Amino acid sequence: MLKVLVTGGAGFIGSHIVDLLIQKGYEVVVVDNLVTGSKSNVNAHAVFYEVDILHPQIDEVIKKEAPEVILHQAALVFVQQSIKDPLADGTVNTIGTLNLLRSAHLNNVGRFIYASTCAVYGDAQGRVATEDDPVSPISFYGASKYMGEMYVRLFYDLYKLDYTILRYANVYGPRQQPHGEGGVIPIFMQNMKKEISPTIFGTGLQSRDFIYVQDVATANLLAIAKGKQQTLNIGTGVATSIYDLHQHINEILGRNLPAQYKPELMGDVKHIALNPERAQKELNWKTGYSLKKGLAETAAVYDSMD
Ligand SMILES: NC(=O)c1ccc[n+]([C@@H]2O[C@H](COP(=O)([O-])OP(=O)(O)OC[C@H]3O[C@@H](n4cnc5c(N)ncnc54)[C@H](O)[C@@H]3O)[C@@H](O)[C@H]2O)c1
Repeated sequence: MLKVLVTGGAGFIGSHIVDLLIQKGYEVVVVDNLVTGSKSNVNAHAVFYEVDILHPQIDEVIKKEAPEVILHQAALVFVQQSIKDPLADGTVNTIGTLNLLRSAHLNNVGRFIYASTCAVYGDAQGRVATEDDPVSPISFYGASKYMGEMYVRLFYDLYKLDYTILRYANVYGPRQQPHGEGGVIPIFMQNMKKEISPTIFGTGLQSRDFIYVQDVATANLLAIAKGKQQTLNIGTGVATSIYDLHQHINEILGRNLPAQYKPELMGDVKHIALNPERAQKELNWKTGYSLKKGLAETAAVYDSMD
């Protein structure tokens, strides 16, 4: 079975990918510096290296482990933090990606799968974005993730390092911390479980495409075998307003809590949804979770931790 190295495998999305890979019989190596991830998320069957993707030690790990595939999930994902301190996430998300690509090339890794984001599109203004839509990030985070995409494409153009770029919509599910992209769901759930009214920034009419983490893990698994030099949206195509999200969570938790409203945040897009047709065609991937099903599963996991 293939050996796969997952960066960010101690984080939210990476750890679910690792679990799925191990379940399917892959050999898995995890690289994570635990800046936001947690050792307790790392599957016991994975080999774990606490290493920063910016550090030259990355070379030694890749040389020693000789993975056939790298799934690059490690990043700083705080949109608001990127506005305050663009250098921090710019460095990890661009130079860190470059350091990995360089090492992958030097050590003859066969394929590189890159976790990108809907934030590269900026505000889709009511459209369901396709991969051919213009890229126009409105946060430093979105810009840094797009820079990573460009490096990935260049390593193919110059050195034939095979790649797939997966642009995730707003991912949610168990183990998500309330700080990153899509963090609205753990914030709302954790507060509303404690009978605390959630805060909505802006009118509540802004909308997002929420995708369950298990569907994202499946897309990564399929990309290992099928994707070739493609950029693919990984979303549901459905835009849900934050107002409606709040109502769904009230329903699932059996609450009737009103929201408090505060002014909108800088760098927050108003509307985004991703058209998933290309990923469906190229990877034979489809979502297995409606928002209600994914929210119910997430709430059940939170309940089991109480
Ligand atoms: N969560 C979302 O909704 C979402 C949406 C679109 C794209 N993404 C992308 O998915 C990926 C995973 O995001 P997540 O939500 O799981 O975030 P996360 O913070 O839970 O996971 C990121 C992981 O990367 C690790 N990491 C950060 N900097 C590192 C470094 N310098 N060296 C080594 N490890 C480092 C962290 O410790 C953490 O374990 C990111 O690339 C992100 O840009 C996430």
